[in-house]
Formats: sequence, C-alpha cells, structure tokens
Amino acid sequence: MSAAHSADAHGMKITLHVWRQRRASDAGGFETYRVSDVSPDMSFLEMLDVLNERLAVEGRDPIAFDHDCREGICGACSLVINGQPHGPDRETTTCQLHMRRFRDGDVITVEPFRADAFPVVKDLVVDRSAFDRILRAGGYVSVNAGSAPEANSLPVPRPAAERAMDAAACIGCGACVAACPNAAAMLFVAAKVSHLALLPQGGPERTARALALVGAMDREGFGNCSNHFECEAACPKGISVANIARLNREFLRASVDGASGDA
Ligand code: SF4
Ligand code: FES
Repeated sequence: MSAAHSADAHGMKITLHVWRQRRASDAGGFETYRVSDVSPDMSFLEMLDVLNERLAVEGRDPIAFDHDCREGICGACSLVINGQPHGPDRETTTCQLHMRRFRDGDVITVEPFRADAFPVVKDLVVDRSAFDRILRAGGYVSVNAGSAPEANSLPVPRPAAERAMDAAACIGCGACVAACPNAAAMLFVAAKVSHLALLPQGGPERTARALALVGAMDREGFGNCSNHFECEAACPKGISVANIARLNREFLRASVDGASGDA
C-alpha cells in the first residue's frame, strides 16, 4: 500500500508553505495553508485549485499561478516545489505532476521561479517576457509567402531531423533558468539556435541568428553558464546540454564570420 493510500477515506492532508507577494515591489513572504481531501489522482495544480476555491469562499485572495494547457505543452506552469523547478519528477511539468507523488501529512514549499530576468508579477507568477524578446531577436526563419513548397524539394538527413526535433521540444518554460545557480538562459537559447541550425531552412540566417539570440540573452540580464548542468536536470522536455556545446560552436563560427565581414 502506498503512503498516499494510507490516508483515510477523506484523502491526504497536505501543508503548504506558499510564497505570497501582492506586486513586484512588495517584499513577499511565505504563508501556510492546510489542504484536506487531497486525492492522489489530483494534479498539483488541481490541488491548488481546491485551495483557491476555499480561499475565495472565505473572501481571501486566491493564490496567483500561471497555467494554460495543463498538458505539458505550453510552458506556462512554473512553480518551484520543494526547491525544484516543476517539482520532484524528472521530465515532468508542474501541471503533469500528481499528488500521488507525495505522502499524507507532507509539508510542501511552493515558490515562484527566481531570477532577476523573471521578476515576480504576483505570488507564483513571474514575467517571462524576456524569453519572447530573445526569440523576437532571431528565433525564426524567413520564408517567401506563396504556394507550399514540394515536400521532397528540401531533403533533411534523418539524424539531423531527429536532433532538430529534440531541440524543438523546448516549451520555453524557464525552468532551466530557475534551476541554474547563475540564472543563465543558455539551455533555452541553445535549444532555439540548435533547432534551426540543424535544418537547411535555418541556414540562410544561421550566422545572424546566433549573434542576435546571444546578444538579446545578455541584454536581458541572464547570468553566465558555468557548466553546473542543473538546467538539464530540471528541464521537463529533456533538452540536452549537448545543445549548449552546439550553441557555443555556432556563436564562435558566427563571430569569426562576422569579424571577417562574411556575416
Ligand atoms: S530548455 Fe527545457 S527548461 Fe529551458 S525553457 Fe526549454 S523546456 Fe523549459
Ligand atoms: S500548463 Fe501548459 S505546460 Fe503546464
């Protein structure tokens, strides 16, 4: 019998220490809540929904947290649970984490992603628009509008296609930044640069893209990578740090091309 199932017929009892912060300029602090009747089959966010419904009924301010798809696709959910971005399960977003992972009577600490480049908006919601600005700097390919090209006109070797697809799995959640002791965004930028650098469609803007994304990352105030690799461990999509090595090669290549006037 699992620990979760050892709870009585009314479900698990969980104590939460939740970061509350009314606005970015407030200091913020932890508040404690007790939640009963927690089903092991609830997702972590559903457990927070239950708590919020109770807070609303009591006339108290519900806890603000980000979510959208609740299917591990959109990257919106973003909690640090017991010190781990997205919680204790590997390659699992917060929205896909279930309460069966915890025990009856557990005490769980819930915080927002913490990084200077991700300022707190309210409670557990942070502003991750820095990622949008990095992508706007060059995370795209330019194509001529018109009729769809013939599917086989641009063959892509299967190994390159698979590595590109692996990098394209990045959902832009920011857990890599939250996990990094330097709050570096290297894994995110590496995934975006790799995804396009590996494909022929990304070739024409390859040099400009590497320089633009790294430049935007630096301007947004993210820290420097010092090879802790906490990013890979926290990433819910299994993005490999091998992409960071590829980003470094792309940036070096682009810098040399740019210095020789070949950019
Ligand atoms: S690299 Fe992983 S952790 Fe970082 S933003 Fe992409 S999916 Fe999230
Ligand atoms: S809510 Fe979309 S990935 Fe979690």
